[in-house]
Amino acid sequence: MAGFFVSFEGGEGCGKSTQISLLMAHWQAAGRRVRQVREPGGTAIGEVIRHLLKYHPENGAMTREAELLLFAASRAQLVREKIAPFLAGGGIVVADRFLDSTTVYQGSGRELPADQVAAINDFAAGTCRPDVTFLLDLDAVTGLARARARHASRHDRMEQAEEAFYHTVRQAYLDLAAREPQRFCVLDAAQPPETLHSRILETLNSRGYGLCS
Ligand SMILES: Nc1ncnc2c1ncn2[C@@H]1O[C@H](COP(=O)(O)OP(=O)(O)OP(=O)(O)O)[C@@H](O)[C@H]1O
Ligand SMILES: [Mg+2]
Repeated sequence: MAGFFVSFEGGEGCGKSTQISLLMAHWQAAGRRVRQVREPGGTAIGEVIRHLLKYHPENGAMTREAELLLFAASRAQLVREKIAPFLAGGGIVVADRFLDSTTVYQGSGRELPADQVAAINDFAAGTCRPDVTFLLDLDAVTGLARARARHASRHDRMEQAEEAFYHTVRQAYLDLAAREPQRFCVLDAAQPPETLHSRILETLNSRGYGLCS
């Protein structure tokens, strides 16, 4: 039996990593076969691309088109090397960002044409799509404050985003979720972590993913 694929999306500092840790611990304690992946990265090739995108000294000169293609290249590798085989073997995959991040950040955020971004997403991911996507929705001030507090000593390009950019991203995510309500679950990320974790488990149960392994 094929497994299932859960992704977490939302702006910087919304609590994706926190919720993924709780979910991974929950499933590991239950003895489930579960694999966590992150974007960009998650494979040897993808981690090199991640470094290029986030920390390379020359990345300030990177065009938005090159940025889009690098994210897509990292994802193409991740899907075929890690995600698809694990799902085919009946495992659960949990992704810290997936193709919705590209739709939102490179499409709406960097103002690239939505149809071209969608075509590149389709090429990179093939038929691989999350079964459930949790959007952790948070206002810009709270999200940026959380992200900055966490990375007080290190600012990468994404975290230097202004509040206006964060707001654009937030709205783009909400629009995307409204277009695919059967896949997305939007949660108010201002709630305490344990409350959010409970909501996430409830949602997975109600959508039929509670008892799978
Ligand atoms: N529900 C919450 N309420 C209050 N603080 C939270 C909550 N969830 C996470 N935090 C705190 O906010 C900060 C950012 O959380 P986390 O790293 O999980 O977010 P993230 O979405 O993974 O961020 P990034 O996009 O930078 O990877 C951390 O210091 C974390 O402890
Ligand atoms: Mg994180």
